[in-house]
Amino acid sequence: MIDYKVTIKEVNRICKEVGRFIELEQTRLCSQNVEEKGHNNFVTYVDKAAETLIIGELRSLITDADFLAEENTSNSEQNSADYRWIIDPIDGTTNFIHGVPCYSISIALEERGEIVAGTVYDVVNKECFWSIKHEPAFLNEKEIKVSKRANLADSLLVTGFPYRHGTALDQWMELFKYFLRNTHGVRRLGSAALDLAYVAAGRFEAFYEYGLSPWDVAAGGFIVQQAGGKVSDFGNKSDFIFSKQLISSNGLVHEPLQKLISEYLVDVSFE
Ligand code: IPD
Ligand code: CA
Ligand code: CA
Repeated sequence: MIDYKVTIKEVNRICKEVGRFIELEQTRLCSQNVEEKGHNNFVTYVDKAAETLIIGELRSLITDADFLAEENTSNSEQNSADYRWIIDPIDGTTNFIHGVPCYSISIALEERGEIVAGTVYDVVNKECFWSIKHEPAFLNEKEIKVSKRANLADSLLVTGFPYRHGTALDQWMELFKYFLRNTHGVRRLGSAALDLAYVAAGRFEAFYEYGLSPWDVAAGGFIVQQAGGKVSDFGNKSDFIFSKQLISSNGLVHEPLQKLISEYLVDVSFE
């Protein structure tokens, strides 16, 4: 059994250290450093190097843990260990390569299939959102909670537009129009992990997106839950890590939001 408090302290330290590396490399980046993994899905040497640095440090925290990390630098063939780290070394790579100061490091720890610790670190603003099992959520040293706004009409939402749209894009845009007319607005930050962290901190009432991967949502989704919020897939099922679709909210606006999403997105494929 590991000590979650000691572990998260180390994870937060690693995020800050690797964050400094990422920020420095951002000033050196040029277009030749950018590879396209798929349509509009970019990666740089910084994403890969940051992942290697993070994994190197995490290995000394829990020696026999598995890894599920976006750039696949050390992913385990089998997932057989008691612990698994789920990592996105830079969430918001498109912002990162354009110099838009909105990108984060996301690290979650799974213990026998349950998330028990998570950190989302805003590299530029130095905001560290984190939590551990049985504890509240924190922004740096201050406890955070989801917002108390109970109506969608008073809510500020955030969403993302995935790289691949399948057949869902038109219906997604109709839903977007509905929210523009019937809420305080919809933001698009470009880092799903930060979108989630902002819901946890009460800055947004809700976040919704499809086409997401486990490393985008594992830490942030956990932090939202620890801050008193709710996370589900579009069908209101609670297993969101691998579902590729996610609604995360303060809990109070979850039901109307979930109903609208299922009403607008009928018979669509998200692949
Ligand atoms: C992306 C960001 C973005 C979301 C995409 C993700 P990446 O992650 O989280 O906000 O819209 O679906 O893939 O590629 O920057 O790590
Ligand atoms: Ca990501
Ligand atoms: Ca990434």
